[in-house]
Amino acid sequence: MTIAVQLAYLLASILFIIGIKLLGKTKDARRGNMLSAVGMLVAIAATLITLNILSFIEIFGCMLVGGAIGLYYAKKVEMTQIPEMVALFNGFGGLASLSVALSDHFLKTEVLSLEIDPVNSVSIIASVLIGGITFTGSIVAWLKLNGKISGQPITFKGQHLLNLALLLSFLVISVFTFLYQNDPMYITILVAMALLVGILIVIPIGGADMPVVISLLNSYSGMAACATGFILNNNVLIVAGSLVGASGIILTQIMCKAMNRSLTNVLLGGFGQTVAAGGQDGPAIVIKEIGVEETAMLFDSVSSVIVIPGYGMAVAQAQHVIRELMEQCEKRGIDFKFAIHPVAGRMPGHMNVLLAEANISYDKLIEMEAINDEFANTDLVLIVGANDVVNPAARTNPQSPIYGMPILNADKAKTVIVSKRSMGKGYAGVENELFGYPNCLMLFGDAKQTITKVVSELKELG
Ligand code: TAP
Repeated sequence: MTIAVQLAYLLASILFIIGIKLLGKTKDARRGNMLSAVGMLVAIAATLITLNILSFIEIFGCMLVGGAIGLYYAKKVEMTQIPEMVALFNGFGGLASLSVALSDHFLKTEVLSLEIDPVNSVSIIASVLIGGITFTGSIVAWLKLNGKISGQPITFKGQHLLNLALLLSFLVISVFTFLYQNDPMYITILVAMALLVGILIVIPIGGADMPVVISLLNSYSGMAACATGFILNNNVLIVAGSLVGASGIILTQIMCKAMNRSLTNVLLGGFGQTVAAGGQDGPAIVIKEIGVEETAMLFDSVSSVIVIPGYGMAVAQAQHVIRELMEQCEKRGIDFKFAIHPVAGRMPGHMNVLLAEANISYDKLIEMEAINDEFANTDLVLIVGANDVVNPAARTNPQSPIYGMPILNADKAKTVIVSKRSMGKGYAGVENELFGYPNCLMLFGDAKQTITKVVSELKELG
């Protein structure tokens, strides 16, 4: 039986690894997701066979309730709310690890009167620390993202020193927890400190930096699960936890690189405040407007188009009408592509998911490095609700907070049309000098509404 269970765990781990590998390519991602889900089913089934702590009825009852709540929210959630949902998932993952660690501690010390060995003790303490931080950190991130508390960075003097002092005290009390295992006071203090640190490390981070923090918390939830795997002596939990931990940290690094920010810079927080204090507003930008009819006529006259989607496309839910625009252009023999910036929108792959939802084929979506040289030979670029990811200040203005961030070279195209509602700024809160460039025309209005009108005009033009 033990060998069969271990083999099942091995199979589950292999399925997780192949699943993650497949997630790397958009066209294989669904298959990857499915394989990982099968892996999880195998792991759960093997665990249920091994453990007989609860009855199967109780376990299935819990799975049914949990599954139904998960299904309800997954169906209900808007695409723009996905980071919030992931925040909650991470938080509950952390809480689960924390709970398992505590129950193991109390089972051994209070119920069985056993002495916990050093390895087990380190695993319990790691699980309490990482699980606790993940839980409260994720809840704060969730509250910030859904606007229940201010999304602005909350900072105060001595904040980082306080965090450091708390972490050092945690280490000291960990030693007492190990030495005086039968005294519940020490482990209780550890739990309280971990929960407090979780709150303190997330409050100084600005709302729009949350996707990076969520990815980091995702990594923490994996590490907490890994520590719990050591407590329970469960190999598949160790493997799955390490995979989540490692992939979360890789994703965090990719995001930081694409924003040209260091992780320390994100974690120390206060980004929004720095920008405001930096007084980024330069001389007023003189812009040229374009109307819906002229836009349609321009589309009717060009031979190549690149669309740059951004956060505003997600807000406007303009992806379906953009597919119609693509169909109109392709009918005219126009070369039509999408340029995807790695941090366009508010979560990794945000634009890819939205465009896939509108049935736009993956091979039309070109990554930044692959398309950046093509802009100079492109007749028309349509920017739909993107701002920071096309701001030339990232190349030209060393004073800009986004200086050094890789951007899409939209400004190099012959003509650029920007679809947005106003002269409102993007996430970084800085002016975009592109809007005043001689080749740039502003098409003001909600992206879905204006592009719908452009498509109707194109249909009339034939
Ligand atoms: P942003 O720079 O945030 O600009 C979005 C623009 O969309 C705004 O300027 C807004 O202008 C416009 N907009 C909003 N609603 C609209 C609507 N209904 N119709 C048309 N336009 C609308 O977006 P971006 O260029 O995609 O850049 C993403 C930013 O988020 C980057 O700074 C990036 O570093 C940051 N970020 C991204 C991630 C990930 S993983 N993607 C994670 C953290 C941070 P108006 O108000 O004038 O309409």
